[in-house]
Amino acid sequence: MTKNSIKSNLGINTLAVHGGEKPDPETGASSPNIVMSSTYVVDQPTSFSVTNMDEDTPYVYTRWANPTIRQLEKKLCLLENAEACLACASGMSASSGVLFSLLNSGDHLIISESNYPGTAEITRQLLPKNSITVTPVDTSNPENVKNAVRENTRMIWIETPSNPLVKLTDIRAVSGIAQEANALLVVDSTFASPVVTRPLDLGADIVVHSLTKYIGGHGDAIGGAVLASRQIVSRIAGEGMLHYGGTISPFNAWLIMRGAATLPLRMRAHQENAMQVAKFLELHPNVDLVRYPGLESHPQYELAKSQMNGFSGMIAFRMASPESVAKRMMSDLEIVHYAVSLGHHRSLIFLLESDDLISSSYRLDGELERTYREIAGKGVFRLSVGLEDARDIVRDLAQVL
Ligand SMILES: Cc1ncc(COP(=O)(O)O)c(C=O)c1O
Repeated sequence: MTKNSIKSNLGINTLAVHGGEKPDPETGASSPNIVMSSTYVVDQPTSFSVTNMDEDTPYVYTRWANPTIRQLEKKLCLLENAEACLACASGMSASSGVLFSLLNSGDHLIISESNYPGTAEITRQLLPKNSITVTPVDTSNPENVKNAVRENTRMIWIETPSNPLVKLTDIRAVSGIAQEANALLVVDSTFASPVVTRPLDLGADIVVHSLTKYIGGHGDAIGGAVLASRQIVSRIAGEGMLHYGGTISPFNAWLIMRGAATLPLRMRAHQENAMQVAKFLELHPNVDLVRYPGLESHPQYELAKSQMNGFSGMIAFRMASPESVAKRMMSDLEIVHYAVSLGHHRSLIFLLESDDLISSSYRLDGELERTYREIAGKGVFRLSVGLEDARDIVRDLAQVL
C-alpha cells in the first residue's frame, strides 16, 4: 500500500516513464531492479500484525509490502492522480478486495446491469451470501441510479466504458448521487486507462483497474490495482487484501511497470486504429450495429467527448449470425487473435453470446434484459483494437465478416 508523496505537475508521458522509479542508489542502475525476495532481514523488533503496518514500516514480508510492487504503486498513483494505491494479483482480486473489505452484512450495492462478467458474478452470487443486497440498474442513465438508492446504500459500482457493450456512465452525475446517499462511488476504469479518464478527478472515491489490460499492455502479466484516498486503501489492504493473500508477484509488477511506461503512446495509437476500424465496421453491409465512443452514432458521444480524453480502443459490434462468423474468425483470422482479454498490443476479438451472459453472469430479466438484447442481439463481438497497422486489421476482419 503506497501513498503518493510526490506532488507533481509533470506531463502524463513523463509520469508514465519516470513515475515511481529512480536509479538504484547502490549500483546506479537506471532501470528498476526486481526484488523477488519473499522475506527481509530486519534490524529492529517488528510487529507481526498487519494492523500496525504503515508506509514507514520496514519491509518484512512480500505479501505485506515489496520494493518493486511499491514502485508500480507509486507510478499508478501519479498516473491516476490518487493519494494511495494497492497493487493486487489480478483485476478480480482488486475488485473483490474493495467489495469484501468495504461492504458489510445489511448493506446495499447499486451496480451496472452489465459489466465485466466476473464482477457481475461476485456481486450476484457471493455478496448475497453475506446478506449484502445488490440492485443492478442501467447506470448509463443517472436517474436510474438515483431511483435505486435506499437508506442502506453504501456503494455504487460503475464500469465506464463498460464491458462488453461499451456503454458510458456519467461519473460526475453519479458521484453527486453517491455523495448525497453517503455511499462510495467505485469506477472500474479498465477500458479507459488513466490516460483517457481519471475518475477520481471527476468525483469518484475509488478506481479499480485490471492491470492485465491497457496498463500492462502486452498480454504477459496478470495484475490489478485499487486507487483511492490513503484511508480507504489502508482499510482494503489491512482488513482484506493482505489476509486474502491477493498480493501481486513482484515479477508481474515489474513487467506491468515496464508496460505502463509507454501507456500514453499506446493509448493514442489504440485510439487512432480503433477509429479507422470502427468506421470500416460501420459501413460494412453485414454489420448491424457498432458501438465505439468516438463515433457520432454512439448514443453517448457528447458524454464521451466531455468525460474522456480520447476514446480508447474498445469496440463492440453486432451481426445477424454471430456464431457462424465466430467460427470463421477462429479458423481464418491471420492477425487478430480470437481470444478473451483486451488492451494488449495484439488485436483480440471474442463473441459474448447474450443468452449465456444473461442467464449465468448478469441474471437479467424484464426491462433490463430487453434493453441488453436491444443493443447486443444474439451477442456482441468485443474487439480490442491493437497496435498493428490499421489497414492490416481491417483487411483481416474483412475476409471473415
Ligand atoms: C473491465 C474489467 N474489469 C476487471 C477485469 C478482471 O481483471 P483480471 O482478469 O485481471 O482479474 C476484467 C477482465 O477482463 C475487465 O475487463
